[in-house]
Amino acid sequence: MINKRTISILFLLAIIGSGVSVSGYASEKSFLDEVKMSEQEFDSRAVPLDQYVTEDTVLSRESYQGGSFRVLARKKLIGRYKCSSCHTSKPVTVNFGLELTHGDVQLEHGSEGQALTCIECHHPVERDYLEDKKGQKIDFDHSYQLCGQCHFRQKRDWLGGAHGKRASNWAGERVVFNCTTCHNPHSPRFEKRFPATYSVPID
Ligand code: HEC
Ligand code: HEC
Ligand code: HEC
Ligand code: HEC
Repeated sequence: MINKRTISILFLLAIIGSGVSVSGYASEKSFLDEVKMSEQEFDSRAVPLDQYVTEDTVLSRESYQGGSFRVLARKKLIGRYKCSSCHTSKPVTVNFGLELTHGDVQLEHGSEGQALTCIECHHPVERDYLEDKKGQKIDFDHSYQLCGQCHFRQKRDWLGGAHGKRASNWAGERVVFNCTTCHNPHSPRFEKRFPATYSVPID
């Protein structure tokens, strides 16, 4: 028998039930679930940025945590680029050509008493490029590939973010400094400096 009381109890249960389903709390996804379910890679997930990198960048030829990243480009910043504007197949007829054109390049790079030579890094024929140990051309924008051949530990750290610097904010696409953004390839050591001290004001 359905009496008034049963109806009111059923009515009450219906309200409670609908209350639970209306709030829908149990079905809401957590942020972590959302990330896990996302097809996109974590690093490329859009996060609103208020600062963008304005310098020229190139897509790195290396990967970072399985994904891609960008590197600050160099070519536009190299004063004497394009090198092939002078380095043609024509013979050089001026005396002291090297001193006149590259006298400012001071090589202080390499082991004690065994400085590197120009063609250990620069392509001996195609001057618009650097050269790797196998004789393959390396673009000036990707000079980290050159440095990484000898300084593989620093390159590994650089890939992971422990050496070097990120150009952009922590969020958004990863853009990092190139090795030569910081190091002069001809003289890569930094000058030793004394720590800056705070001078106590004299009263
Ligand atoms: C203004 C003209 C000029 C430009 C621009 C120029 N070079 Fe040179 N470069 C010379 C001359 C001249 C020599 C000497 C060549 C010789 O005596 O055979 C030389 C020599 C060199 C050498 C050989 C040094 C040696 O010991 O044999 C290298 C390496 C070199 N240049 C790299 C470059 C690179 C890299 C660029 C571009 C970033 C560049 N040059 C741009 C004029 C130029
Ligand atoms: C350790 C590798 C290495 C060695 C050794 C080396 N270079 Fe370079 N050189 C580079 C790289 C990398 C760049 C590009 C730098 C950048 O990204 O700004 C460069 C840039 C240059 C430029 C263009 C710089 C400018 O401001 O116009 C010239 C010219 C040049 N090198 C000449 C030489 C000459 C001449 C020698 C030998 C005396 C030499 N390099 C030795 C790696 C090297
Ligand atoms: C052909 C191998 C070779 C290449 C290519 C090369 N380096 Fe070097 N580099 C050396 C050697 C050898 C030393 C001396 C190592 C030492 O003193 O412990 C050195 C020293 C250095 C130092 C100083 C290390 C210290 O202990 O103070 C820095 C910084 C450096 N290189 C950066 C670079 C960068 C940046 C590039 C790319 C533009 C580069 N190197 C390319 C061989 C190389
Ligand atoms: C944001 C600037 C920056 C960038 C980018 C950078 N370095 Fe360095 N690097 C430094 C500083 C700062 C030091 C420490 C210098 C010191 O202690 O005197 C250093 C030190 C080094 C040394 C000396 C040994 C050591 O680990 O202390 C090597 C070799 C070197 N860097 C190579 C590289 C190479 C190769 C790349 C690119 C893959 C690179 N660096 C990118 C700033 C930079």
